[in-house]
Amino acid sequence: MQLPDSQIKASFDLVENPVSFISSYLKNQSFTAVFVLTDRNTRRHCLPLIKEALPKSTVIIQIPAGEMHKTLDSCSAVWEKLTAKNADRKALLINLGGGMIGDLGGFCAAAYKRGIAFVQMPTSLLAMVDACLGGKTGVDFGGFKNQIGAFAQPEAVWIYQPFLKTLPETELLSGFAEIIKHALIADAPAWHLLRKRELKNQNWSELIPASLQVKKQIVEIDPFEKGERKKLNAGHTLGHALESFLMKKGNPHPHGHCVAAGLVMEGRIAVEKGLLPENELIQIEELVYALYGIIPFSRTDVPAILRLCQQDKKNEAGKVRMALIGPIGNCTTDVEATEADLKMALRYYLG
Ligand code: GLY
Repeated sequence: MQLPDSQIKASFDLVENPVSFISSYLKNQSFTAVFVLTDRNTRRHCLPLIKEALPKSTVIIQIPAGEMHKTLDSCSAVWEKLTAKNADRKALLINLGGGMIGDLGGFCAAAYKRGIAFVQMPTSLLAMVDACLGGKTGVDFGGFKNQIGAFAQPEAVWIYQPFLKTLPETELLSGFAEIIKHALIADAPAWHLLRKRELKNQNWSELIPASLQVKKQIVEIDPFEKGERKKLNAGHTLGHALESFLMKKGNPHPHGHCVAAGLVMEGRIAVEKGLLPENELIQIEELVYALYGIIPFSRTDVPAILRLCQQDKKNEAGKVRMALIGPIGNCTTDVEATEADLKMALRYYLG
């Protein structure tokens, strides 16, 4: 049964000692079996840090790493393993990985026997501050990201920050873009703190919970993205279109890098619409260009990127709708953007 919106809780735990934390969690529950979904990297680098807490009978399910494997074929592999090992409706699936593992594993759990319990244990910064919380699950299909999926809430979300030590800087930067976005839409004090520090001096122990708190408050008000949750799409209309364009061109760029570019481009539209003061756009630009540089595309690519904006899930009645930041710490949803607005923003970014 689906809970009424107001009863959905998006809780998370900041875990210091994963072995004792997971042991006592499992002791207090009555799961009939425990499964852990990993990819090669998280099996090698992250699973050893929690293995001691898991029952001896735990089954590890490994799928190939990378967005290109976020497919129904990978789901089949997971469902086959759950079936072969006789997982019943009281089984638990722990998703140990980045956003791809969490999204796919959450969907597999939601659909298997009409739903088994799952826990999100994110290992990337991007997954820790965004994907793990809020119950969006799914896979890519037909060339579209997250085309098939469901809202399904995890039993728990476990944030174990030392996993970040295994990440390359590009991955950290990608996740940092979502932290920047959360600060810009709802936490101006966090913005003024983070914008003054270099990446290596950021205080993740403060930023991660603050960022999750922003997301938690939003998704608890509006779990199914009917209103408030649309704020989380700031930077994502043009950012997502750019990401898809670059992927199709065979020149993929990390999600967060494209979202950061989206924040600048959409920031320009917000200035034009009188929502964001010009000096605040300059602050955003300074940080984004310093951290992410300029993503390479050219003026001749603009029509193709515009076509991708037309396919955005957030559009209504064929009109492009976006969540625009402004003033910093606030966000307005469902702002209609014309083709001229989008073109102007893409050209502005290119300078
Ligand atoms: N990543 C945006 C959301 O969860 O709604």
